[in-house]
Amino acid sequence: MGSQKKPTTLLTQAKIAARVKSLAKEIAANAPRSITVVSLLKGSFVFTADLIRELSLQGVSLEVEFLGFSSYGNSKQSSGALDMYGELRTDVSGRHVLVIDDILETGGTLAAAKDMLQKAGSNSVSICVLLQKNIKQKPSLDADYVGFTVEDKFVVGYGLDYANKYRELPYIAVLDK
Ligand code: IMP
Ligand code: MG
Repeated sequence: MGSQKKPTTLLTQAKIAARVKSLAKEIAANAPRSITVVSLLKGSFVFTADLIRELSLQGVSLEVEFLGFSSYGNSKQSSGALDMYGELRTDVSGRHVLVIDDILETGGTLAAAKDMLQKAGSNSVSICVLLQKNIKQKPSLDADYVGFTVEDKFVVGYGLDYANKYRELPYIAVLDK
């Protein structure tokens, strides 16, 4: 236990809460009153739980679905090979879908999710990420809503993990090499 390094705080709990509130206002100003939220597991479960309650306070009613995507395995670098698990349990045909993910890096994960939801007949697919990593390569897709842009460092907490650890941290922190 004691060998686990303490990550360095990057975004405090208060800062995240304030941004989640303002993101919900941005989304509510553009989104229809009724949407289907598709939350990508596992990384976005904490963000999703907070964001949907703020969306509700902004008058948006919604259904929630979860899809699992995994690209990192137990490393800090994307394996490139995406593993999708789980399935959509509600019909998204004709629905306005808001995909929620923890962090956008290359865009591979979100592009795969968006493609799948379009093929399932959704009316529109918008994307909301808590974080966008500032990497050299241009992502293969743009998010419609971005909470914070972060430097190209490995971050954990508020749902984000390293080898399935640190998800429970109430803040976002940089995991030093
Ligand atoms: P992309 O498919 O390259 O955009 O990678 C996005 C996915 O990689 C996210 O959904 C996360 O699961 C994971 N990821 C990327 N960067 C980080 C990080 O710094 N910490 C934790 N997970 C990350
Ligand atoms: Mg993920």
